[in-house]
Amino acid sequence: MIAGCTEPVALLGIGSHVPARVVTNDEIATMVETSDEWITQRTGIRERRIAAPADSSASLGAEAARRALTSAGVAPSQLDLIVAATASPDYYFPATASLIGERIGADDVAGYDLSAACTGFIYALAQAYSQIAAGLADTVLVVGTEVFSRLLDWGDRSTCILFGDGAGAVVLGRAQRRGLLGFEMGADGRGAPLLSVAAAGHAELPDEGPYVRMNGPEVYKFATRVVVESSTRCLDAAGLTVDDVDVFVPHQANRRIIDHAARRLGLDDEKVFTNVDRYGNTSAGSIPICLDEAWCGNRIQPGDVVLMVGFGGGLAWGSCVMEWTKERGS
Ligand code: ACO
Repeated sequence: MIAGCTEPVALLGIGSHVPARVVTNDEIATMVETSDEWITQRTGIRERRIAAPADSSASLGAEAARRALTSAGVAPSQLDLIVAATASPDYYFPATASLIGERIGADDVAGYDLSAACTGFIYALAQAYSQIAAGLADTVLVVGTEVFSRLLDWGDRSTCILFGDGAGAVVLGRAQRRGLLGFEMGADGRGAPLLSVAAAGHAELPDEGPYVRMNGPEVYKFATRVVVESSTRCLDAAGLTVDDVDVFVPHQANRRIIDHAARRLGLDDEKVFTNVDRYGNTSAGSIPICLDEAWCGNRIQPGDVVLMVGFGGGLAWGSCVMEWTKERGS
């Protein structure tokens, strides 16, 4: 799926929230046979945040949503729809989006969850854009929220070092001019054995879990290829080139994947935003957490062209390019 955006839909507000508890590589090295040096060299991750027992995808997502609504100056009652991208929902049903709606006081607002793992936030942005462009909604809250720490086998050193918990949210709305400029998305179900978490409907449910199971080297190869291809196709759909990009916000899975993709795309280091060192891979939370940090840290300026790309379980991928139309203080 590849398309330039024709309707004027823009980001109105943004917020994020991560749990307070920091788990360093040294702490993980007390649980499995690994080291800070190995994890840092192979992934760039130094620490991650882990949810408190009372936290959940809904509670983390609701806090990020509150911050995004404040940033947008939008009241919960003004929302028409909530889309929650998560692979670690509180329940199969009700949807995490409904629970977030209840927590933020968005009574009677439609909401559903979207499952596309680490590509979830990009898919959810496309959903929000489509609903607004089609006239079904004016104002949509998109939340990417995960507690991946509860999907990890903490005895498996090849996966437990990689992930963290956290949430990010944006408010999208009909605008005077186009903010969202283009999308490119895809999925290849043949890759399911390479990266998965089994669920109740599975024909051969494992005895233990549900846990993340991953073939790291194969996913690495997929990721380095698809980030470059998807970004290029997305820019093309929007009539842009890589020279137009001011800020690159890729999914934060592994610093080596990000550096490799940025090099292949020809993006200068100062255009690439990363925080994988502090949060690890927060799956659907990763891109909106990054966007929020980049905006709050003045790494994104009004008028900047921002390229985002997600990839992961599916195997799925997706890119979105936008002009940052939000002004400081608005
Ligand atoms: N500490 C020490 N040694 C380890 C660890 C660890 N934590 N994990 C694996 N090793 C060992 C392996 O056992 C292996 O040892 P061996 O050579 O004696 O057999 C050796 O290190 C190399 O293992 P590889 O898996 O080949 O290591 P690699 O260099 O590929 O790095 C990694 C592994 C970091 C997981 C990498 O493959 C990667 O980042 N892959 C992509 C992951 C990713 O992006 N996932 C996205 C998920 S998104 C979503 O949708 C959920």
